Formats: sequence, C-alpha cells, structure tokens
Amino acid sequence: MTDGTVYKQGWTLDDVQWSKFDRSKAEPWLIAAIKAAALVEFNAPDYVSYLKRVFKDAGPVTLDAIEQWGCEESQHGRALGRWAEMADPTFNLDEAFARFRAGYQPPHFAESETTSIRGSRRGEMIARCVVESGTSSYYTAIRDATQEPVLKEIAGRIAADEFRHYKLFYETLNEQDEPDLPFWKKLMVAVGRITESDDDELAYAYYCANVAAADTTKQPYERKRYSQATTATTTRIYRRPHINKLVQMVAKVVGAEPHGRLSKLGSALLWRLLRLRSGSHQVEAVPVPV
Ligand SMILES: [Fe+2]
Ligand SMILES: [Fe+2]
Repeated sequence: MTDGTVYKQGWTLDDVQWSKFDRSKAEPWLIAAIKAAALVEFNAPDYVSYLKRVFKDAGPVTLDAIEQWGCEESQHGRALGRWAEMADPTFNLDEAFARFRAGYQPPHFAESETTSIRGSRRGEMIARCVVESGTSSYYTAIRDATQEPVLKEIAGRIAADEFRHYKLFYETLNEQDEPDLPFWKKLMVAVGRITESDDDELAYAYYCANVAAADTTKQPYERKRYSQATTATTTRIYRRPHINKLVQMVAKVVGAEPHGRLSKLGSALLWRLLRLRSGSHQVEAVPVPV
C-alpha cells in the first residue's frame, strides 16, 4: 500500500532512511528477489554503452539523458544491494555482481554492435519502454508487498524513477526522424522484448545472487529452475492493478488505446497467465492503488 509519498528525481543513497530497517519484516523470499534485482540494475553501464552506440548521431541532449539514465539504474542496483546486504549479511553485491557479469554477456553488449538489435532506433525505444513498464510495475508491486520500511521506501523511489525512464524513452521514440513503424511491427518488438524476460538475464542473476560461489560446483546453474524462481516472485507480488498499469503502458507505446478493448483483453490474459503460473501460490486479487 502506498502512503502517498511522491519521490522526486535526483535522490541519493544518503536520502534513504536506513536506520528504519526492521530485520523481522524482511522476508527470505523477497530478500532473494531483491538480491537478483540488484545485480540486473547494477549491470546498466554495459547497456549505456550499447545505447550510446545506437544513438551516436542523436546529439548531446539525448546522449546526456542516456548517461543520466544509466547512473540512476546503477544507483538502483547499489540501493537494492545495500538493503540486501543488511537483510542477508552473507550477501556481497560486488562479489555476486562480478560472477553475474562474467557469465552474462549478451551479444549486443559487444563493442562491435553499433546498430539496434531491434532493427531501428524506434524499435530500440519501444523495447526500452517495455522494460521500463515492467520495472515500474515490479517495484510498485514490491513496495506494496513488503512491510519492511526501508525496502518500501527504496522500491517507491525506484518505481518513480522507472516511470520517468518510460517517459524519457517514450519521448525519445517520438523524436526520431525515422518513419513510424506499422502497428504489427511495434507489437512484435514489444512481444519480443517481453518474451526475452525468460532468457538468462533474470534467471542467471537470481542464481549468482542466491548461490554462494563456494556452492556453485554442487549446485550448478539451471536456467529452468532459476527462471521458475523469478516467476514465483512475480506471481507472488503482482496484483491486478499492477498488471493493468503495466499493460496500459505497453499498449500506449505500441500505439493502442491504453484504456481500450485490446488493452483490457491483454490485461485479463496476462493476469490469467500469472494465476496459472502461480501454481501452488494463491494469488489474491486484492485491489491496491498504483
Ligand atoms: Fe532501475
Ligand atoms: Fe529504468
């Protein structure tokens, strides 16, 4: 539940009220998810380099905005990592991140990749908007799911940043002098990016964050197993309003009416899918404001 606090851009780790940390309210399943999220967020510099190559001719305003975006994503990693280190003293952000970075290197992060893997700068921005839709809804859901005061604050601050990132990339999308993409093409890019969420990035981050270096031989990485672990968190924290907001944001970026029939149908389908995937978890349809 939100207390109505509005978090502005430009916060630092010193603004977080760390002294309010309450270990008794830090739930193990959520600690595991936050450790993984910290690694993914902390990996932003490679994505900044890639985006700056794709937008190399875009001018200083766009390039500066990409740089600032990357700084904020890295700070998300640092904030989540610090919270996770408090909640689980065996966790070390730098050590886990080093293992994650060594094992997760998508081809488009290579210096030789100078064009968007989405086929165009517009496609790249649609994919970014999909990711920011996902992260803004994810951290909103975490803020609403946790009773731990510091995590609630951090998740609220991060969610507000992710909404601003969505806005930034949505505006950048519409500034491109490339021809607009047909609806089906935009939809394909969006769906393609959503299905990529099942790739190694999230699963491998969960593994590196939650399996100690000393245990990796007897407990090797298995994509399916750790992918299921990340899905379990998602099904546990999301409520219907989070899904509605997520689908509305994606609908807007592909050019569909956010409150139209397609969006409502997509929202109902995604909610149903989450319920099905939740397996033994009982996902309550408790409405919460977002
Ligand atoms: Fe982030
Ligand atoms: Fe973001």
